[in-house]
Amino acid sequence: MLSKKINKALNDQIAMEAYASAYYLAMASWCEQKGFQGSASFFYKQAEEERMHMLKIFRYVNEAEGHALSPAVPQPAHDFAAYNSLFETSLEHEKKVTASIHEIMKLASDNNDFRTLNLLQWFVDEQLEEEKQMQTILDKLKLIGKDGVGLYMLDSELGQRASVPEAEE
Ligand SMILES: [Fe+2]
Ligand SMILES: [Fe+2]
Repeated sequence: MLSKKINKALNDQIAMEAYASAYYLAMASWCEQKGFQGSASFFYKQAEEERMHMLKIFRYVNEAEGHALSPAVPQPAHDFAAYNSLFETSLEHEKKVTASIHEIMKLASDNNDFRTLNLLQWFVDEQLEEEKQMQTILDKLKLIGKDGVGLYMLDSELGQRASVPEAEE
């Protein structure tokens, strides 16, 4: 049985993943408005993945005899200063998520809750991937600068990336 404290922390994490999903959806919409079709697909896929993360924790909480709560999701920002800022904001948010996962792991470890630790281990690897992915895109954007052709190519690359099915799960 989950401790009350860990149950609460996991419900907060559920809300955080739901918010990330909503945020990526807003980014997908912005990209579609601006004609970045490939990036829109990329962010739609990110939004789906975050919902999957949310469900992974949600299902676990109830399986572990806790009580999973469907979260209230605040409306995210819909306007972004520039294309680059989508990825800067994403990386920033992913880092917050990573820190939050680490906090809950600390709590689980202090409580000898090995099942929760095991669940969160999956998220540690996932967060590493997510941060790396956003950082790589930001590095490319630095190289590209204001070159339109470069941006066009990056947008297509992100679109292709979104069409590759995930190997995991
Ligand atoms: Fe996530
Ligand atoms: Fe994420």
